[in-house]
Amino acid sequence: MNVLGIESSCDETGVALVQTRADGPPRLLGEALHSQAEMHQAYGGVVPELASRDHIRRVLPLARQVLSQSGLALADVDLVAYTRGPGLAGALLVGAGVAVALGAALGRPTMGVHHLEGHLLSPFLAGETPQFPFVALLVSGGHTQLMRVDAVGDYTLLGETIDDAAGEAFDKSAKLLGLGYPGGPALARMAAFGDDKAFALPRPLLHSGDLDFSFAGLKTAVMTQAKKLGPNVCEQSRADLAASTQAAIVDVLVAKSLRALKDTGIRRLVVAGGVGANLRLREQLDAGAAKLRATVHYPPLALCTDNGAMIALAAALRLERGLAHTRDDGGFDVRPRWPLEELSSGQAASTVPAALS
Ligand code: KG4
Ligand code: ZN
Repeated sequence: MNVLGIESSCDETGVALVQTRADGPPRLLGEALHSQAEMHQAYGGVVPELASRDHIRRVLPLARQVLSQSGLALADVDLVAYTRGPGLAGALLVGAGVAVALGAALGRPTMGVHHLEGHLLSPFLAGETPQFPFVALLVSGGHTQLMRVDAVGDYTLLGETIDDAAGEAFDKSAKLLGLGYPGGPALARMAAFGDDKAFALPRPLLHSGDLDFSFAGLKTAVMTQAKKLGPNVCEQSRADLAASTQAAIVDVLVAKSLRALKDTGIRRLVVAGGVGANLRLREQLDAGAAKLRATVHYPPLALCTDNGAMIALAAALRLERGLAHTRDDGGFDVRPRWPLEELSSGQAASTVPAALS
């Protein structure tokens, strides 16, 4: 079965083709991505209207690219999957609209996929697939959550941020340091040249005893330090503040992830979402997990941030397990706000159409 996946929830247009196999995990046949980061840079953040317009321009050329990469024709696509949410409503509607139009033209069903489920399952594209159950640290621009994952479609929320997401903390701090958008990678690059102990920044909720996060106070502390340094700050001080900020965010993410492993007794951690690309986070998680004799799984670096492959993959895995929420009536909807736990309560499940079973 060939699943075409379309991701358009924020500022990346991603398209990919994944093939399910009877004798192994789904295989990625081709993928293409266009990042709008440069376009939004001038505005210091994502402009939703511009994001939607750009998705429309990119999605079909990317789909053509993916098909030619994989040597398949459009008629070989059995299912068209798209990101149903969460994300920007207009941006989601582009992917959903195109997917449903393609499905109607080809006479194939469509499936709306949860963006975070895509991130969560993306390590399955890494070859070495984690066994269930595992703990997942989901760290993206909009979400910071620890989940217990017992199976595809069986997710229990262990803790989450009560205000800003970790990626948001990276991005907002980067903005305060005069770095471009998206700030996470830029801040991480600058942090490599700084002293992570130069500034004493708070580690919110580090000792709260639960698995929740809070990053809004950290952002305020970074703002205070940045103001103190003033507009003529030297490069070294900026690097020091970047390093101290990264250390504060990473310390909390690592401490809570390890606590989740201890609390659940599970010894497998999956890290997903854009912040999962952060090398300091990876180093510290690896070191902490090793002490607990736990293993940490990451998606391939290129699949940490938004992409179409994770959407096609999540659809393929759902389909394999009979959890498919497919439609072939030409209708669709998007869910700009959509808690991941809803997938576990069966609200998204439905039967697989005869054509796919
Ligand atoms: O998962 P993602 O691509 O998009 C969302 O679904 O939000 O995550 C984007 C977030 C941004 O906040 C970006 O700054 C952050 O991931 N990010 C990083 C790194 N690469 C991306 N943060 C820290 N270090 C990185 N290397
Ligand atoms: Zn994402």
